[in-house]
Amino acid sequence: MKNIAVLVSGGGTNLQALIDAEKRGEIENGKISCVISSKEGAYALQRAAENGIKGITLPRKNYSDSIEYSKALLEIFKEENADVIVYAGFMTILDECVCKAYPYKMVNVHPALIPSFCGKGYYGLRVHEEALARGVKVTGATVHFVTEECDGGPIILQKAVEVKNGDTPEILQRRVMEQAEWKILPKAVSLLCADKIEIRDGRAYVNE
Ligand code: GAR
Repeated sequence: MKNIAVLVSGGGTNLQALIDAEKRGEIENGKISCVISSKEGAYALQRAAENGIKGITLPRKNYSDSIEYSKALLEIFKEENADVIVYAGFMTILDECVCKAYPYKMVNVHPALIPSFCGKGYYGLRVHEEALARGVKVTGATVHFVTEECDGGPIILQKAVEVKNGDTPEILQRRVMEQAEWKILPKAVSLLCADKIEIRDGRAYVNE
């Protein structure tokens, strides 16, 4: 059974989707062993507590720079025997020493169809604001491996979601979460824990 560490910064609806999937027996060969928040008082920590999962707060503001913060995070991963690390609405940029220590063991959920609306500065509601401003008719979500390039790691799963007339960033965000993120994130984590993802020539292939 692989130990899954989930990194959060906010509301934690993706964490909840992972918890619910685990309860339904849908995370093959994995269990959420701890939740680490970069923000004090994040609602995601309450979700962890309510489900008997260890919550750890590692506030970004207590560290002078990203390298010091990343080193502290790596220590926690070691202490917790983390095998797989999930960025679930984690809004803190980490030093590359973190992803290099866990090659193809860290995944992120991004609220758009990469390579659209991704990279530095594209996070949370901002992504949906930009998608609406561009007038795209289809958006969605992507789960990908975390590498040193922001949102640039191999894509594991994607799911498309329709943009509707009259959408606000908040409405679109909710639809993308419900129809895409909360489905593909638990699925990708399960595939990773079950060793069903293969990397060839810098691309990820799912073997089911
Ligand atoms: C989610 O939409 C997630 O995809 C996004 O932030 C939201 C967090 O919600 N992440 C990013 O934008 C990362 N680049 P949650 O805390 O309710 O899971």
